[in-house]
Amino acid sequence: MRYLFAAAAVLLITASGLGAETESQTVDTISQGEAVFGAHCVKCHGENATGTDKGSPLVHRFYHPNHHADITFRWAVDKGVRAHHWAFGDMPKIEGVSKDEVELVITYIRDLQKKAGIF
Ligand code: HEC
Repeated sequence: MRYLFAAAAVLLITASGLGAETESQTVDTISQGEAVFGAHCVKCHGENATGTDKGSPLVHRFYHPNHHADITFRWAVDKGVRAHHWAFGDMPKIEGVSKDEVELVITYIRDLQKKAGIF
C-alpha cells in the first residue's frame, strides 16, 4: 500500500512538473522571438512592432491573422515585400534568419497583436 502511495505521489509530481514546463516554453518562445525580432526587424518595424519611419507597424489591423496569415511573414522574410499598404518603400528580403527563427518571430508578433486586442 505504501508503495502505491509513493508511486501516485511520483506521478502527481511528474504531471505538475510537465505542466509548468509547457507554460515556460511558451514564454521562452515569445522571448526568443523578441530576440530575433530585435536582431533583424526592429530597425524598421520598431519597438514592440509599432513601426518607425522605415517600416510599418505589424501590430496593426492590416496584419490580423485573417488578413495576413502566418505564411505572409515567411514570404516577407524569404522574398521581401513590394510596398502595397504604406509609403515606406519595399521591404528587402532578410538574410540570415532561419525558418525556425521566423516561426519564433511570428509567435512573438501574434502575442503582441493579441495583447493589443487585434484578435
Ligand atoms: C529595411 C526595413 C525592414 C526590415 C529590416 C524588415 N521589414 Fe518587414 N516590412 C518593411 C516595409 C517597408 C513593409 C511594408 C510594405 C508595404 O507597404 O506593404 C514591411 C512589411 C512586412 C510584412 C507584411 C507583409 C505583407 O505581405 O504585407 C511583414 C509580415 C514583415 N514586414 C515582417 C518582417 C519581419 C519578420 C522582419 C524581420 C525578420 C522584417 N519584416 C524586417 C520593412 C522592413
